[in-house]
Amino acid sequence: MKTIAVVSSVGGAGRTTLSATLASLLMARKHAALAVECDPSNVLALYGGLREPARQGLASYVLAPAGHVAEAALQSDDGVLWLPWGGARDGGAGPDPEQARAVSAILHAQPSWLRDLLARVDLPAHGVILVDAATWPSVHAVQAIEAADLVLVLVPPQPLACATLPRLRAELKARDKFSLYVANAVSPASQLHTDILALLRHALGSELSAYRIHADTGIPEALARNQSFHLAAPHSQAAHDLQGLASWLSSWIKQASRASAQVAGGAP
Ligand SMILES: Nc1ncnc2c1ncn2[C@@H]1O[C@H](COP(=O)(O)OP(=O)(O)OP(=O)(O)O)[C@@H](O)[C@H]1O
Ligand SMILES: [Mg+2]
Repeated sequence: MKTIAVVSSVGGAGRTTLSATLASLLMARKHAALAVECDPSNVLALYGGLREPARQGLASYVLAPAGHVAEAALQSDDGVLWLPWGGARDGGAGPDPEQARAVSAILHAQPSWLRDLLARVDLPAHGVILVDAATWPSVHAVQAIEAADLVLVLVPPQPLACATLPRLRAELKARDKFSLYVANAVSPASQLHTDILALLRHALGSELSAYRIHADTGIPEALARNQSFHLAAPHSQAAHDLQGLASWLSSWIKQASRASAQVAGGAP
């Protein structure tokens, strides 16, 4: 089982979209998939078919560790398991501020809290956990990064993303994290996007994935219609990009799981 954290140094980079889509695409490639939301936005379950913000989730478990976190998980028709952040209250109210502060304090004091929790999740050898993290820097993103075997860094081709990326990259290097950088929402017709991609290629070298995800207005439209974009528009360039990235991740999961099994078995 491998854990992939989906992070970015700017908001709206596509973390939730890619966490949800890659969970489905990896499930279709026979990887048992769990999508976990480590972000108080509490929107991930909407991608799993839930129409209301989730009440139970990871946040409830931080405060009541004796509970069973699996009770807060949902399963969509394609078999993906979803663990939302939770915390919604009656009448559409957001999380209780006192509780939110208490959760943040615990996560701040125990940076490996999520890693320890996910280590107890019982998924098959080729299973995958995708963690949709809050924007970095944040205590939630640090939890996701600490828990990850692979950090998938989304980079929208925007000046702010470029300006903040070196700090995130330095943090990932300091934590010795294997990282893959993916440009998302790329418009080839935009000169700015072309220039930023060239700059990223120069700065990141082989850490920049060959798979870039093209911008497609069908992505938010599919969410509005409660559809999976890759099923609603399977022949689009963006769906093709997402399939390519999922195939790359599938190969990586198999290879990395094999390597872990060999180490555990004492093979040379
Ligand atoms: N490749 C893409 N092309 C077009 N729109 C996209 C693409 N990827 C994501 N989006 C849209 O961009 C918006 C932000 O995406 P998303 O919510 O997944 O980002 P996020 O990084 O999770 O944001 P937040 O910081 O709010 O958590 C959404 O409306 C989503 O549908
Ligand atoms: Mg999000």
